[in-house]
Amino acid sequence: MKATAIAPSNIAFIKYWGKKDEDLRLPENGSISMNLSNLLTTTTVEFDPNYKEDEVFINDDLDYSTAEKRIIAHLDRIRSRANIKDKAKVVSKNNFPSRTGLSSSASGFAALTVAAASAAGLNLSVKELSILARLGSGSACRSISDGFTEWVAGNSSETSYAVPLYPPDYWDITDMVAIVSKNKKDVGSTEGQKFAGSSPFYPLRLSKMSKKIKFLKQYLLDKNFTKFGELVEAEALEMHAIMMTSKPSLLYIMPESLRIMQLVKKWRSVGLEVYFTLNTGQDIHLICRQENVRRIYQLLSEVSEVKDIIINKSAKGARLISKHLF
Ligand code: PMV
Repeated sequence: MKATAIAPSNIAFIKYWGKKDEDLRLPENGSISMNLSNLLTTTTVEFDPNYKEDEVFINDDLDYSTAEKRIIAHLDRIRSRANIKDKAKVVSKNNFPSRTGLSSSASGFAALTVAAASAAGLNLSVKELSILARLGSGSACRSISDGFTEWVAGNSSETSYAVPLYPPDYWDITDMVAIVSKNKKDVGSTEGQKFAGSSPFYPLRLSKMSKKIKFLKQYLLDKNFTKFGELVEAEALEMHAIMMTSKPSLLYIMPESLRIMQLVKKWRSVGLEVYFTLNTGQDIHLICRQENVRRIYQLLSEVSEVKDIIINKSAKGARLISKHLF
């Protein structure tokens, strides 16, 4: 059977960095994100007794061997759940660069999970799909349901999954991605996360996390953009402080990203309300209100370091589509 799914990447407002169980990908803390309308992965999966081996085709040159191993391990999980033995062909395409900080593993494993579960004949709930996606890549569990979602950390595989907080049209905030370079990061997030606990500041971060999550949820509820933006930006800087002070230290912020971070602060100081956040890579997300999109787009276009700009609204989660890639 063949099935195809499309899934969005997401931007974490409260970040997931550090695991309490490596194999199960159980996070140390919960996280909150928004699905992104223009960072998408489309994946077709076909299980067929005629395939001798699993075959994986990814549209770009990401670290193919590691990605392929993780994808096959995910197919194995789904095969064992569906009680089938057939090998599969997987074709996957991103409409954005991978390994530059735009969370292609979130959209990738969400699309793979939904397509492969359906192709294997499984009929899973949104919660079951989120749990399964998490086993492929932690942040992927937040790309299953629509709009704004919260990954509840949990303490077992069954209790660690994302729940929907608000639908996509709840709040018209915009995430503007500035692509500053297509250079691939050296250390992927699965690898980097292993070092989180070695930062002397990590216990402090965790001790304040449940309060932080509570505040962010309140600002979302109140649609208080200023408080929300301030917290989101501070959270990104805190995660990078953990990365920089872990052993080995991880430096994901590049000169180009730093330049935009400084510009964002400057624009804000003259009354243009915009905040930044960034993950494991140099590309950077600017969060603003709808009314400021044109102005910020124009300002960003004038920055020599910016190679491309992708405008995202809050979006639907992973879903099946009828147009297959093969
Ligand atoms: O799901 P992973 O292993 O790609 O980790 C994602 C980690 C961050 O993007 C840095 C933060 C997050 O919550 O998305």
